[in-house]
Amino acid sequence: MLRRRDFLASAAAAAVLPAFGERLAAQTAPAPATGMPAIPPGFVWGASTSSYQIEGAVKEGGRLPSIWDGFSHTPGRIADGTNGDIACDHYNRYAADVDMMAQAGFQAYRFSVAWPRVIPGGTGAVNAAGLDFYDRLVDKLLSRNILPMACLYHWDLPQALQDRGGWHNRDIASWFTDYAMATVAKLGDRVKPWAMLNEPSVHAIFGHGFGNHAPGLTGWDSYVSAQHHQNLAQGTAITALRSARSDLKLGTVFSLQPIFPSSEQPEDIAAARRFDACWNTINLDPLFHGRYPAAFEQTFAPLVQGNDMAAIRVPVDFLGVNYYGPSWIKNDPAAFLAQAGYGAVPDGTPRTLLGWPISAPGLTEVLLRLRDEYGNPITFVTENGACYEDPAPAAGVVQDPERTAYIREHLGACATAISQGCALNGYFVWSLLDNFEWAEGKRRRFGVVHVDFETLERTPKASLQFLSQMMRAR
Ligand code: GCO
Repeated sequence: MLRRRDFLASAAAAAVLPAFGERLAAQTAPAPATGMPAIPPGFVWGASTSSYQIEGAVKEGGRLPSIWDGFSHTPGRIADGTNGDIACDHYNRYAADVDMMAQAGFQAYRFSVAWPRVIPGGTGAVNAAGLDFYDRLVDKLLSRNILPMACLYHWDLPQALQDRGGWHNRDIASWFTDYAMATVAKLGDRVKPWAMLNEPSVHAIFGHGFGNHAPGLTGWDSYVSAQHHQNLAQGTAITALRSARSDLKLGTVFSLQPIFPSSEQPEDIAAARRFDACWNTINLDPLFHGRYPAAFEQTFAPLVQGNDMAAIRVPVDFLGVNYYGPSWIKNDPAAFLAQAGYGAVPDGTPRTLLGWPISAPGLTEVLLRLRDEYGNPITFVTENGACYEDPAPAAGVVQDPERTAYIREHLGACATAISQGCALNGYFVWSLLDNFEWAEGKRRRFGVVHVDFETLERTPKASLQFLSQMMRAR
């Protein structure tokens, strides 16, 4: 077995790690031989998951409850009445899951660290047993030549911190930074790419505005507060981590999507602009330009103290982009989010099982926007995938042609973006495993590997076989 520290000096790491901090050589994508997307060499291929959605073992290893434990156990909150208590039991089955990734040909694995395992009370004592799980996971990844990419926060806030105001309490910037420093102190010798947050605007909108995600809070002011304090925590932690170790690749992950008006009516066009600010530029502008979108600068002003905007505007080595599809927005005076709500989608627009519009060109559009408006940062698609009604496993595989087509189309959009000069260095499919899909529960499946939630047996899907073909051709 490769000793854990040897990996970072190995050819495998040398092939992948630079992509997290350097613009890859101008990639002339080879003509696709078999209609496969023309992804150039040097591109990183990964799979993506998150702690609460796959780990289970919610009472093992000293972990204390997160906001999702209470929320998922609240009747009526989860569509199918399930929760993450067991999920995919990845906490106990991680070694086989890593072997499965290695067998498929993945070079990197984006996972999230559960704050409630590392500092169960949110602040104060670090839980060695909690860190030991990630220690084992990281060593297993390195032993299989898979680069670990850790996300520090994928929505599972310790409940103890929610009881102290959670993302509405400005102290969370220091709470989060202390947690980040404790985690990197343990794993930073072997884990180099670190993403601070997953989709801060989605967490602010759904968890603190709509209330359909944990912690189930609602209202405009609640959303604004959660958004600003995530921005602040993100920048504060990056600065602290950069001073702690010079060999880290530090970034964060945003959900980005094109926002279109549902009609040519001026009020819908204006609503689409407001929604674009609340979903996309509310994260991008502070991080890359040190300011909030003009339309909302006054809204955020009461929360911005001292050098907040300078603390948020910090250099990143990479940006993760989670992309699923565009939205069509209408003016909706009753909508909490800037009076902008989901509107009519053009007839004939393909959709996934969840009704999400599908547009692979939309991914190229998002990447070109980063190129043109935000300095063309080193970028990875850190989530892209689709939910469909999969058939049961048969003869050791699950046939999922729609998901395979979705992934193929979006890889084509990646190739197009690269050919137009976007610094796109990799793609992580969402998700490795069918998992706990938040308010939808376990009935909605995104995995390229099927999970039988009764037996926890894993079965590869045809989409994994397609990705494996792409990865082995690299
Ligand atoms: C998100 C989260 C993932 C979801 C995935 C499908 O984007 O909401 O990062 O945890 O499960 O996107 O909804």
